Amino acid sequence: MLSQRNTTASWTLRSVLLAAIPLAAANPLNFAFPSSATSPVPFVASVDPAFIEETLQKARRYMPSIDLLDAAESNAGWLEGPPRENMTALAGFWAEEYEWFQTQDEINNNLSHYAVTIPSGAHYEHPIPLHFVHERSAAEDAIPLLLLHGWPSTHLEWSKVIGPLVAPTDTAAQAFHVVAPDLPGFGFSPAPMYSGLGARQMGAAFDQLMRQLWYSSYGVISTDLGWYVGLFLTDLVPDSIIGHLSDFWIIPPNATDLERLAQNQTTEQETRYITALRAWKSNHFGYATVHAQLPLALGQALTDTPVGFAGWVWELMHIVGDGYAYSLDEVITSAMMLFIQGTWGKLRAYKEALKDGENLPITKVPTGATQWGFPNGDFKDIQYFYDVPRDWLERLVNLVYLSTHEGGGHFPALSQPELWVQDVQMFFGNLTNKT
Ligand SMILES: *[C@@H]1O[C@H](CO)[C@@H](O)[C@H](O)[C@H]1NC(C)=O
Ligand SMILES: *[C@@H]1O[C@H](CO)[C@@H](O)[C@H](O)[C@H]1NC(C)=O
Ligand SMILES: *[C@@H]1O[C@H](CO)[C@@H](O)[C@H](O)[C@H]1NC(C)=O
Ligand SMILES: *[C@@H]1O[C@H](CO)[C@@H](O)[C@H](O)[C@H]1NC(C)=O
Ligand SMILES: *[C@@H]1O[C@H](CO)[C@@H](O)[C@H](O)[C@H]1NC(C)=O
Repeated sequence: MLSQRNTTASWTLRSVLLAAIPLAAANPLNFAFPSSATSPVPFVASVDPAFIEETLQKARRYMPSIDLLDAAESNAGWLEGPPRENMTALAGFWAEEYEWFQTQDEINNNLSHYAVTIPSGAHYEHPIPLHFVHERSAAEDAIPLLLLHGWPSTHLEWSKVIGPLVAPTDTAAQAFHVVAPDLPGFGFSPAPMYSGLGARQMGAAFDQLMRQLWYSSYGVISTDLGWYVGLFLTDLVPDSIIGHLSDFWIIPPNATDLERLAQNQTTEQETRYITALRAWKSNHFGYATVHAQLPLALGQALTDTPVGFAGWVWELMHIVGDGYAYSLDEVITSAMMLFIQGTWGKLRAYKEALKDGENLPITKVPTGATQWGFPNGDFKDIQYFYDVPRDWLERLVNLVYLSTHEGGGHFPALSQPELWVQDVQMFFGNLTNKT
């Protein structure tokens, strides 16, 4: 059904056809997904209208929690979570103005979407269904590029940068063929129904995807949970990876560093990085601990409340966004992309990723680090959370590029798209001697 050419006319027709099929009872994903396509087929985002209607009804009936009377001081900067007034505004906008089907049309119109099911293999004994965006550049020397998002995010994190990567305004700049999947359990990639799909196994699946697209050698860009996947990919298939660029580096101090800290022998940068890392763990990491330890309990609660779930993701977007002013529309779309198929699978991804994080591979693949500060956020305790010392990066990777930006926060492809693209062009251009 989904193997027609992805022309405007055919997907419009298909949307109409799919809209007429009630999916809710038969399909727990709440969207149409081609079953068991062993090679990529065009994909059309098509969410069950009955589910969207149900979501709207729930937004209308949302009941926010009461708040402390001294919340302005005790919950300053959203330390304890999104305040009642902001949740009320979010629910009101959702009930009165938000239009999922307009967003869905933009998703389908803006980029070329595909689906494939990667067969079970040596690393994971179950098939892995994937949704991904694939945009080819007209440039002859374009580099294939795999973009790996994290939490709370989907392929939409790259929506401002895919165009400039594929067709740079400066024609002398390096161009790219872009492959941007949703991680399993996120967006339109169905969640794994069996345990064990960690960063290494996802990496193996994405490498298979790249090979299916005839890209035997490619670059990787990663962030957040996708960073773990990117690191394991460089370990699995080092000869296939041209380079790995990430804006996300969490490198804990080793025992010698902690001894040096106790002796006042760490550098100023090391001291403030360790301090920020500790502040992150003790003040802002609660969400991840719950994801990793109680994904099903949390999933049971959040899967029933779209606005409540949006509040859960908004808290983190706010804390690490470096003051980026998310519109209510952006908050709801980000949440919807994680809510449609249910919340449990992506929450559980933390259990697998944090387990993998205890044993990160050391890689020789040429690697770039971009660092984006948090000077405009509400929490000065994490201001230097991004600022990993260069020689700590070099313990893990073969660092050939380091670019530090004063601001930008955790979603630089959204908050600073031009600078973000420049780093990508520079890093990969240098690797292939194009300047
Ligand atoms: C929360 O609501 C207050 C009051 O309307 C508003 O000033 C503030 O900008 C909102 N915060 C966010 C992050 O949207
Ligand atoms: C689609 O593209 C338009 C124009 O660039 C942009 O304004 C909009 O945010 C995009 N929508 C999505 C869902 O990416
Ligand atoms: C910590 O890392 C430094 C630099 O790589 C190294 O010299 C030191 O031996 C490490 N300490 C431990 C306990 O691994
Ligand atoms: C490290 O510096 C602190 C504050 O200056 C001081 O109190 C402490 O005694 C020093 N520790 C060592 C081991 O020198
Ligand atoms: C990358 O290339 C640019 C332009 O030639 C140069 O300025 C920069 O120093 C290079 N960076 C690295 C890390 O090689």
